[in-house]
Amino acid sequence: FSTSTMAQSAISRITVIGGGQMGSGIAQVAATHKHEVTLVDVSQEALDRGKSYMAKSLKRVAKKKFAEDETAQSQFVDEIMGRVSLSTKPQEAVSRADLVIEAIVENIKVKQDLFAQLSKAAPQHTILASNTSSLPIGKIAELLDEQRKQRFIGLHFFNPVPQMKLVEVVRTKEVDQDVVDSAVAWVKAIGKAPAVCKDTPGFIVNRLLLPYMMESIRLLERDVASAQDIDTAMKLGAGYPMGPFELCDYVGLDTIKFIVDGWHKDGEGLKGNPLFSSSRKLDELVKQGRLGVKSGKGFYDY
Ligand code: 3HC
Repeated sequence: FSTSTMAQSAISRITVIGGGQMGSGIAQVAATHKHEVTLVDVSQEALDRGKSYMAKSLKRVAKKKFAEDETAQSQFVDEIMGRVSLSTKPQEAVSRADLVIEAIVENIKVKQDLFAQLSKAAPQHTILASNTSSLPIGKIAELLDEQRKQRFIGLHFFNPVPQMKLVEVVRTKEVDQDVVDSAVAWVKAIGKAPAVCKDTPGFIVNRLLLPYMMESIRLLERDVASAQDIDTAMKLGAGYPMGPFELCDYVGLDTIKFIVDGWHKDGEGLKGNPLFSSSRKLDELVKQGRLGVKSGKGFYDY
């Protein structure tokens, strides 16, 4: 290895695009592990919201870490927040980044355009990554040149990001092995466990989780048991931390519908697969605006 190659493979400056729950969670975890982070969103209002998600979550961690010491709690939060800068200018924000992670709206065209724009400003060594949960990584990178495609990867985090240990590292057909290795090393460096997989719909977790959620909804539709009893059964009988309906409400019913409908329509190898057929119950709830915890109502009321 030349010194420059070694220096280039070390990831210390991270830019996260998108200050929602996922993006701010990723920024928080990276900053907690001493990385210099820039969080980017379209408006100051969105950035302030992201900052408040981070502060709230860090306070929760600090309270446990320094139970009786309020000064230590606020020092802990301030020190980590001090490593996070906020920006509304994506191109400027990636100009020194070693790793860029996109966590914006699940819209292929918007993501493709964003990366086309970012690739004009990011250094050549920068690893570009998407946190998409359901779109093909290779397709998100479609507008980029070959060199950029070799440094493009999926890094899929789970909700709540500070708490969930897994990150799926999704390899496309084009990605370089040294980029996969760097991504795996970085995931470990931020205290998470990597699982490397191919770029197929749902990667590992969502490919298994979505049929489970949809089948749970179908059990309810067939009146086999109530949502509460199905949740109790899976928590106490299978050891899951949340039952399927609690989890559906937590993830968001609109998100679940968006994913299954997308795969049923044209997911690679999944088109027409009955595991991902729409559900009358799910469609109705989404139509009524019962989207889960975030809207105050879903399968349960909050
Ligand atoms: N920030 C910091 N810490 C958090 C947190 C947050 N946002 N949310 C929870 N925690 C911590 C708590 O402080 C607590 O820590 P401790 O064990 O050290 O005391 C711990 O997590 C447990 O929290 P609670 O006691 O409040 O509540 P629970 O025990 O019910 O755990 C949960 C909450 C971690 C969310 C747990 O219920 C769980 O693991 N649920 C399953 C979540 C899951 O499956 N996520 C994946 C969803 S799918 C996805 O994200 C993919 C997407 O692409 C669709």
